[in-house]
Parts: sequence; C-alpha cells; structure tokens
Amino acid sequence: MPLHVAIIMDGNGRWAERRGRPRSEGHLAGARAVRRTVEGARELGIGTLTLHAFSSDNWKRPHQETAWLMQLLEDYLVRETPRCLEAGIRLRVAGRRDRLPRTLLAAIECAEAATRGGKELYLRLAVDYSARHSLWQAARLCGGTGDLPVFEALARTVHDDAPLPDVDLLIRCGGEQRLSDLFGWECAHAELLFLPLMWPDFGPRELRAALEEFQRRERRYGALPVAARDTAGAAVSLAAGPSRGQENPSAALAAQDIVSTGLREPRI
Ligand code: FPP
Repeated sequence: MPLHVAIIMDGNGRWAERRGRPRSEGHLAGARAVRRTVEGARELGIGTLTLHAFSSDNWKRPHQETAWLMQLLEDYLVRETPRCLEAGIRLRVAGRRDRLPRTLLAAIECAEAATRGGKELYLRLAVDYSARHSLWQAARLCGGTGDLPVFEALARTVHDDAPLPDVDLLIRCGGEQRLSDLFGWECAHAELLFLPLMWPDFGPRELRAALEEFQRRERRYGALPVAARDTAGAAVSLAAGPSRGQENPSAALAAQDIVSTGLREPRI
C-alpha cells in the first residue's frame, strides 16, 4: 500500500466542454469527484493524499475562472470540515498563501485547526502550489549553510509542520503526461501513472485500480532488479578478474553499442 498518493486532477474543462457545458460545471463535477475520492482513500487505508487543486501557473487563466475556483475551494472547505472531523481526516493546504482571497484563507485556517487531530487520513490540498517556488523557499530558509540534510528537512516541511513520507504514487488524469511544476523533492522516486480519463470521472473504483497497478510495479531506487541481484555478483565478479577481451569495460560497452545500433567502425 503506498503511504503517500498524489493526484493531478486534470480534465475538468474538457469534461464540461464535451457535454456542451461551461467550464465552471466541470470544476463543480471535479469537486464532487474530490469528495468521492477522499472517502475512497480513507477506506482503502492510504496514509497521505495530496490533491493538486490549483497550481501557481493557473493564475494565468481568466479572472472569472480563478475567482470561481477560489470560491469553490472555500465552499468545499466550509462544507467538508465537519465531515472530515467526523471521519478523522486531517486537512491541510500546501502552497503559497500570500495571494489567496482573505475569506479562503480564513476557511483554510479554520479547517486546519479543526481537523488537526485527525488520524485516519492526512489530506493535503495543493493550492497556489509550485514545486520550484517550494524549493526556492527551502533554499532561502537554508541560508548559506549548504548543508544537504538541513536543506532536505526544510524542503520536506516547507508546507507542512512535520516531514511527510515521499510520494509513492503520482496519478495524473486528463491524458497529459507532464508534471506541470507540481512536484519537487517529495516526488523523486514516485511511480507515475497517467490516465486518459477526465478528473470528474475519477472515484474510488479508479483509485483502487491505480493501487493495483502500483502493486505490480517493482521499485528499485536505482538498485538492480530483485531477480538480477543474485547473479549480478557472478557476472561482474571482480575477484575473478575481467574475462578475456573485457579488460577495459568501457571499450567493451562501446563495442556492444556499435553492434546494437547497427553501426560499423568508421572507415578512415
Ligand atoms: C484542471 O482541469 C483542474 C484544475 C485547474 C482545478 C482543479 C479543481 C477541482 C478538481 C475542483 C475543486 C477542488 C477542490 C479540492 C474542491 P482543467 O480546468 O485544466 O481542465 P482542462 O485541461 O480539460 O481544461
């Protein structure tokens, strides 16, 4: 089971346009999908769920749309706080706060304070979030120390009051295959899953299927696959010394490359 799942909720606008409806309706349907998915995540036993609700780049959209999204977020927080409290869900907003409307800020502070004791699920909503900005903030806090462990601790806690586990599984809906400045330090080893379906069509069933896909993946963190670990020692046995013709490993590799790409030695 992944400890930390993050989702880029893309496709609200296209979902609405395909139905001949305004984009605002897509975002409304997206908010309903958020409610279903959060409930599903809690039931499935996911520890932390990060939902990307508004990236810093989203400020480039028309004012009417950004204002609508801000209002939708505020309504969500006001409406869902009692439900989160009851269900043991801790809610926190990650991202910049200095550009948010005052009423939204108040709703965020209220939701975070009220749900602080929740132990069933840690729900993070990323709002006005930029991975680059987060790393820059951590670098500024780090000052001139240049100390990697200090920087790492700051990068992990720049939006949270305690270090979070790394993101294990990152899901993006809406058919695009990019990260859109939404992930920084915590996503270095995330498994990526890009889904063609639009966010309003996502829910607990799709989340369960994503977790099944995650369980089929082998995570190696740069090490060898499990099956290769036992034989690897023999294949590259330094004790036995290089076999004939392989005294220089990089020359052997280069020769292999030439064969595999179909190239021949250059004629001079
Ligand atoms: C991307 O779809 C989605 C967003 C920028 C906003 C996400 C917001 C919600 C899911 C609803 C509100 C959130 C909460 C937490 C209540 P898009 O508009 O870029 O879709 P498109 O790519 O099809 O145009």
